[in-house]
Amino acid sequence: MWDLLVQRARVVDGSGTPAFLADIAIRGDTIAEVGQVASTEARLRIDGAGLTVGPGFIDLHTHSDYTLLVNPLAESKVHQGVTTEVIGNCGTSPAPLGDEAYPIIRARLEEQYGLEVNWRTFAGYLERLAASGSAVNVVPIVGHGTVRSAVMGYARRQPSASELARMQALIADAMAAGAFGLSTGLVYAPGCYADTDEIVELTRVVKDAGGMYFSHIRGESDAVLEAAQEAIAVGERVGVPVQISHLKTAGRANWEKTPALLDLIDRANAHGLDVTGDMYPYTAGATSLGALLPPWVHEGGLAKLLPRLRDPQVRTRIRQDIEQGLDDWWNPAGAAGWSGVQLSRTPKHQSYQGLRLSHVAALRQQEPLEATLDILLAEEGNASVVLFMMDEAQVRRILQQGRVMIGSDAGATAPYGVLGRGHPHPRAYGTFPRVLGTYARDLGVISVEEAIHRMTGLTAWRLGLADRGLVRPGYKADLVIFDAQRLADRATYDTPHLYPTGIQGVIVNGQFVLRNGERLPALPGRVLLRNNHALGGQISADQEP
Ligand code: ZN
Ligand code: CU
Repeated sequence: MWDLLVQRARVVDGSGTPAFLADIAIRGDTIAEVGQVASTEARLRIDGAGLTVGPGFIDLHTHSDYTLLVNPLAESKVHQGVTTEVIGNCGTSPAPLGDEAYPIIRARLEEQYGLEVNWRTFAGYLERLAASGSAVNVVPIVGHGTVRSAVMGYARRQPSASELARMQALIADAMAAGAFGLSTGLVYAPGCYADTDEIVELTRVVKDAGGMYFSHIRGESDAVLEAAQEAIAVGERVGVPVQISHLKTAGRANWEKTPALLDLIDRANAHGLDVTGDMYPYTAGATSLGALLPPWVHEGGLAKLLPRLRDPQVRTRIRQDIEQGLDDWWNPAGAAGWSGVQLSRTPKHQSYQGLRLSHVAALRQQEPLEATLDILLAEEGNASVVLFMMDEAQVRRILQQGRVMIGSDAGATAPYGVLGRGHPHPRAYGTFPRVLGTYARDLGVISVEEAIHRMTGLTAWRLGLADRGLVRPGYKADLVIFDAQRLADRATYDTPHLYPTGIQGVIVNGQFVLRNGERLPALPGRVLLRNNHALGGQISADQEP
C-alpha cells in the first residue's frame, strides 16, 4: 500500500529529457516507483490527468536565513513550487556571530521581526532552525563577510596571520557543522576589504571539507569580466567548484559584455575547471540602500557609518565617488539614474516603499543623493532597494547558457504579518513560474524540460544532493504538481506580494505543504547537511490526506 499515488501525470523528471506519462508511487518520504505502477492501493490517490509533475524546485540563491525563523511556512517560495532553499549567500550568514555583530544583529532582528537570537555558532543556528521547523528543506552556506566581521570587525585592511587562522577555524567549524561551502559578497563591506589571496586561503578550508565556493563577484558592471575571472582563479588555485551568483551585466555600457562573461565560464570548464552560475529572470536587481555607497563609507561598521553620514565633507566625497563612477558596480549615470532605484524596505518611511528615489527626492524637495543619505541615516542603515540596471535580451542570453541554474536571490516572505510590511522585488514571489511560464513556454528561450532541469536535477548535482532533484525511485519525494498552461507569475514591481497561478500541489519529504492550491500547515522540511545528512523535519504521525 502506497502512502500517495499520483496517476497518469505528465512527468518532467528533472534530468532534462522529454516529458513522459507515468504514475508516481510514494512511500514515506521516498519515491518508490515511477512508470506503470501495478498496485493502485494507496492511502491517497491523485488523478494527474492534465497536470505536470516535476521535482520540487531548489532555489540555489536565497536570503531566507532569518525569515524562515519568522515564518516557517515559507509562503512565497512554496507557492512557486520551491521545496529547498539555499541560504547564507552573498557573504552573509546568520552565524558565526562575533562580539561586535551579536548585539547589533540581536537588536535588529528583535526590532524588525520580534525574533530572539539565541545562537552564536553555525551549529547553534542550524539547531535553532531545525527546532523551529520549516515547510521547505534548507541547504546552509557560511558567509565570508560574517566570518570576517566576527574576527576583524569592519576593518579595511588585510588580516594578520593570526586573524587569518581564526577565520579559517570558524569556517572549519561551519563546515564540520554541515555547511556546503563558503560564500563571498565582494561588493559589500566587510567582504570587499578582502583581497584574492585572503579568499584563496579561506577557501582551502572549504576544499579540505569537500565543499565549494559561491561568489557575488567583485563587480557586476564595469569590472564584471575581471570579477568573474577572479572567482574562476579562486577555483583554479584552490581546486574547488565555483558558483557565480546571480549572473548579470549591470549598466547600459556593460550589456554587450554578456557573451564574453558566458564565454569565460565555458572556457574555464573546457580547461577542466568546474564553474557554474545562477540567475533570476528579471532586469532589476535588489540590495541594501547602503550598498549604493562606496565601500570606504562602511569602514568600521554601523557605529562609524552613521556619524560619517552626518559629515558634510564625507557627503561631498561620496558624491564625487558616485559621479565619477568609482564604485564600479553601480553608478546612477550608467543605469537609469535615480529613477532606476526603487525603495523596497524603509520601515520608518512606509509611504516611500514602492516609489523611485527620484520621486521621493522630489517629495522631500531634496537633491536625490542628499535624500538617499538622509533616509539611510534615519533608517540607521537598515533599508533596501530595487535597482533597474539590466537588459532583457541579456537576461535571455544568460538563461540560454546550459550551466546556469535558477536562484531567486530573495528571502522567503509572505503577504501578511511582519514579513508583509516591505515592498520586495517581485522575484520573491515569481522567479520559478516566470522562468517556466514566460521564458520557457511562451517565449521558447529554453524548453520546459531544460528549465526544470536548471531548477532541480542540475542544482542537486551542483550541491551534491544525491537523493533529490529527480523524479526517480529512491529519491526523496520533493515534488511539484502544476497546470502547465495556467502557470504564471503575477508579482510585479508595483504589486509584489502576489502568489503565482497554476501551482496545484507541493510535496516535501512525502508530505503535502500545498494541495489543490491551498496552503497546509505542515513543516516537513529538513536542514540538509553536506554529505547527505539532515537535521530535524517533522515526522508526521499521520499525514492526513
Ligand atoms: Zn548577491
Ligand atoms: Cu544574494
